[in-house]
This record gives sequence, C-alpha cells and structure tokens, in this order.
Amino acid sequence: MYILILWYNISVLNFLYNQQLTYYENYARSVEEITADWHSDFNHDDYYELENMRIPFGIPAGPLLNSSYCKVAFDAGYDICTYKTVRAGHWDVNDFPNILFVHPEERELHFVDAENGILADFIPDEPLNISNSFGVPSFEPDIWQPDMQKALSSCKSGQQLVGSFQGLDGSVRSFVDAAKLIVETGVKILELNTSCPNEGTNSLLCFSPKSVAKITEEVKNAIGDIPLLIKIAYINYAGNDEINEKLLEELVVETVGKNRAQGIAAINTIPSRLVNSLGQNALTGGREISGVCGSGIKWAGLEMTRRLKDFSNKMYNKYGAGFKVVGVGGVNSPDDYFEYLASGADEVLAATGPMYNASLAYKIKRKILQAEEEV
Ligand SMILES: Cc1cc2nc3c(=O)[nH]c(=O)nc-3n(C[C@H](O)[C@H](O)[C@H](O)COP(=O)(O)O)c2cc1C
Repeated sequence: MYILILWYNISVLNFLYNQQLTYYENYARSVEEITADWHSDFNHDDYYELENMRIPFGIPAGPLLNSSYCKVAFDAGYDICTYKTVRAGHWDVNDFPNILFVHPEERELHFVDAENGILADFIPDEPLNISNSFGVPSFEPDIWQPDMQKALSSCKSGQQLVGSFQGLDGSVRSFVDAAKLIVETGVKILELNTSCPNEGTNSLLCFSPKSVAKITEEVKNAIGDIPLLIKIAYINYAGNDEINEKLLEELVVETVGKNRAQGIAAINTIPSRLVNSLGQNALTGGREISGVCGSGIKWAGLEMTRRLKDFSNKMYNKYGAGFKVVGVGGVNSPDDYFEYLASGADEVLAATGPMYNASLAYKIKRKILQAEEEV
C-alpha cells in the first residue's frame, strides 16, 4: 500500500488542480504552490521565444478555481482561460475525493461502456482519463466577484478571460443574476453552463432546448452586447440519431440562431458509472454516476465540433454570419489541438490535458513556430 501511494505521488506531475487535496485546500493554494511541479516540466527557452504568440487555445471551466489559477494559466501560455463556473450564491462541494483516475477498457469511451461501469481509482494511467465530481460549488458573489476582477488583471494583451456561470435554485432569475454579477467584474465573455444536471432534476439542461431558450433570452436581455457562449454536453438524449440531431438543431436555432448567444462550446464530460476493483461504487455519498473527461472522450468532442460547424456553415450561407464553435474534450497533445481545428473548431480548450501536462500550450506553440520556420 505504502509503495503504491509513494509511486502515485512521484509519478503524477500536478499542475493547476491537485486531486490529492480537497477542493478548499486547492482553492487556498498560492501561485507558487500551483506552479511548483509545472516548473520542473517546463523548458524555459520556449518561454522567452513564444511568450507573445497567441493561439485560440486555452482551458475550459474547471481547473481554474480562482485568480491564482488563472494567473498561472495565462503565464503558461493558455490564451483563453475560463474561470470555474460560479453561481449567484453559495453552493457546497461534493464529498472528497472529487477526482479519480479512470480506466476504460477501450481507447474511446462510449456510452454503453460508461453505463456498464468503468474502473476508477487513485492510480494514474496512460492514456489519461479522470472523473470529476464537484457538484459545481460556488462561493458567495462577494468572494468571487473581486477575485474574478483580479483574474482579469492577469490577462495579457491578446488573451481572454471567460466567466462561466449557471443557476442556483432552478429559477431563470438565478442565471440572470449570476450573469449580471459577472458583467459587473468587467469580464467581457460569458459562458452559460447547460451541461450540468438541471437543478431539481437528473436531466441535463441542454436536453431541454425550450428551457435553454428561455434562460438564454433573459440572460442576453440582461447583458446586452457582451458575447455569450452556451456550453453543452454530447447530445445523446434518446440514443436515437434522428431525435438527437433535431434536439441539437433546436438548441442551435434557439440560441445562436436567434442571436441570443454568439457561440457554442462542446463537450462537457461523459456521465459514467464508476466502480472499484470489487465492482462497488467508487465514490461515496450516493454518487453512482460521475463525469469522465480526458483522452477517451475526444471522439465525442470532435464529433460535436463537426456537427456544430455544419450548422454554423449553414447559417453563414443563409445569413452571412455563422457562430463560434469551441471544441472541448480529450486534448492532450499538439496533434489533438490541430485535429480539432481541422474539424471546424474556432477555439480549442483542454481541462484534463493541462492538469498533468502543464506545458501543453507551449508545446503547441513550438510546433506552430517550427512549421512556420520550415516554410
Ligand atoms: C477538475 C474539473 C472541473 C470541472 N468543472 C467544470 C465546471 O465547473 N463547469 C463546466 O462547465 N465544466 C467543468 N468541467 C468540464 C470541462 O470544462 C470539460 O468540458 C471536460 O473536462 C472535457 O474536457 P477535457 O477532456 O479536456 O477534460 C470540469 C472538468 C474538470 C477536469
């Protein structure tokens, strides 16, 4: 057991979120603590050469808990940083542990396997997949608002801070309140998270385009010209391709199609049943299902990127303007980033990748520079 724990500690390079600590311990970490491992994984020659290069790559809502994490990520060359989803009031975090390593049997994690159960534990593996089960915690606005403002001040020229938010009590009002509170901080791009369970139901909000339409309309009325992104899950509502395509179309029409939003980000995690080596629930507190992210979900992120780009192109051909497609899911190498761009993503974001591969942004930038030098 001791050997296992020792091996685990030395074999995992943490950057950003440290899964061995609680959420609140992570929240309290200083910039120096967050970057400690990163510096050992970092080629400083890259830093000076690539410091001013900007690319449409960054980190989605999740690993950047507060301004310290945002500063570290901006400094590490992630040019789009999303502040972890906030709410208009306090919301507690789920029990520890919040992150486990997961071991799907196949390289791609598909929904049948996710439903049947996947082994989850404390042992890192290649390719890298983790589960995250936080319950979208939030501090009170009087804590996160000044901190978000501070995060904005670490954003360098050409970089962007995105403010992610969701509701509090199932009311449309609570979404609008959170959006307005973010606008007060000066953040210039907002992201509405519709890919977490709808408060009071087990279903994801994005599976109900009518609810998303209502919320998006009211949020947009409240924030005016500030661009709004909608974050959605992989659309797998009824397991029927035709129904799913109609649902996605309705989401597109009701949000970006009516200019209530300016872009769509996909995907969030793939909900999975997590089991330990004895086949029992891997997580405590009645949590049978948890979201899996990382390498195994890349296929789903790429597929959604292609489907969304198709809709965007159709809109462009009809009205002369499309919408922004933000590709998320399983990006852990420069090639993954280029694959998303080739599939139609305007921006690409990675959460799990940078948590264990701190220099990912610089690796991508170096590859771009090398390609330019070869031309
Ligand atoms: C530690 C962690 C926390 C997350 N928290 C949020 C969140 O608060 N809001 C959200 O919309 N997505 C959240 N996500 C999901 C990510 O934004 C992303 O959609 C998902 O992890 C897939 O990307 P990846 O494969 O690069 O990790 C979280 C992911 C991780 C790893």
